[in-house]
Amino acid sequence: MNDFSVLCDIPTPLLYWYQGAKRDLPWRREPTPYHVWISEIMLQQTRVEAVKGYYERFLAAFPTVSDLAAADDDVLNKVWQGLGYYSRARNLKKAAAAVMEQYGGELPCDHKALLGLPGIGAYTAGAIGSIAFGLPTPAVDGNVLRVVTRLCGYDADIAKQTTKDTVSSALAEIYPRTPAESSAFTQALMELGATVCVPNGMPHCAECPLAHLCAAHAAGRETELPKKAPKKPRTVVCKTVFLLRCGEYYALRRRPDEGLLAGLWEFPSEDTVMTRVDMEAWLSSHGFAAKKIMTLSPAKHIFTHIEWHMTGYLCETENRGKTPDFVRATNFVRATNFVWATKEEIAETYSVPSAFSAYLKIVLS
Ligand code: ADE
Repeated sequence: MNDFSVLCDIPTPLLYWYQGAKRDLPWRREPTPYHVWISEIMLQQTRVEAVKGYYERFLAAFPTVSDLAAADDDVLNKVWQGLGYYSRARNLKKAAAAVMEQYGGELPCDHKALLGLPGIGAYTAGAIGSIAFGLPTPAVDGNVLRVVTRLCGYDADIAKQTTKDTVSSALAEIYPRTPAESSAFTQALMELGATVCVPNGMPHCAECPLAHLCAAHAAGRETELPKKAPKKPRTVVCKTVFLLRCGEYYALRRRPDEGLLAGLWEFPSEDTVMTRVDMEAWLSSHGFAAKKIMTLSPAKHIFTHIEWHMTGYLCETENRGKTPDFVRATNFVRATNFVWATKEEIAETYSVPSAFSAYLKIVLS
């Protein structure tokens, strides 16, 4: 069993340090439960600097839980565009509807009740509970795991759920007991991890209010911790993306309702590498009279478990192809139901995920 006793000594110096060191971040100005919730969901996969603008834009579009519960899906996706992991946005809306229905529009001040809402796991429930409501509930993310494993010289694999649970239980034991301090303590741990006890290279131990307590610092093991088992390699999917242009209009289609990038808009594509000759055959089998075909630069997009390696073609066509029924009769069953949109409409209305950004840039340029 690892020794976490050093944690008992951290609240006082950490809270004192945080008073002077905390960054002025938009979600810290008015930390209502709704604001903390939105910011924490955004911050889960995205850097603080990138989140700032999205956070302001999201709250301008959906200022209250009730506005979010009533959001149009396409508007929500458009406001989320660029943040990625769109299931987070879908869960926000689902959870907002549940909060309207079950809790009269106010997020519940209860850890278990928060955990029952879609998209709210142990981390987010801990963060909302402590930061907004002052509950003594830890929020253990990558920053906090790094701080605690270094402080305690804890060698367990931080990718494992058991490690997160152990760290969370150890922290729960030493949480300050006043609401204001619980709120500050969660943010102080995150802040220390984000600005001082940083990953990738040497942390800034000379500035750390906890350096005198830190097992990793004492042993010169700062860069050895935390330990993390290597991830499984991602699956590579090769795709060919088509920018089909007819006059001022480009073809888009909606992705399926389930799975990766569900319900978002995309340029037509096939999950295979296509040569120019394949492309010509595809166009004619879909009834397109091609005026010009240009090969575009290859592009890559990396998701959590999948990599897309894309080839692209810009095809100028005389017409908008054949009807879906004809297309269904060919091998390319998925290439149905195109909509045709101008670049202004694509920029303003259609949420095309950043996986396509290399090709989207060409359309919008
Ligand atoms: N990372 C995750 N949550 C955060 C927060 N509330 N403030 C700053 N960085 C964070």
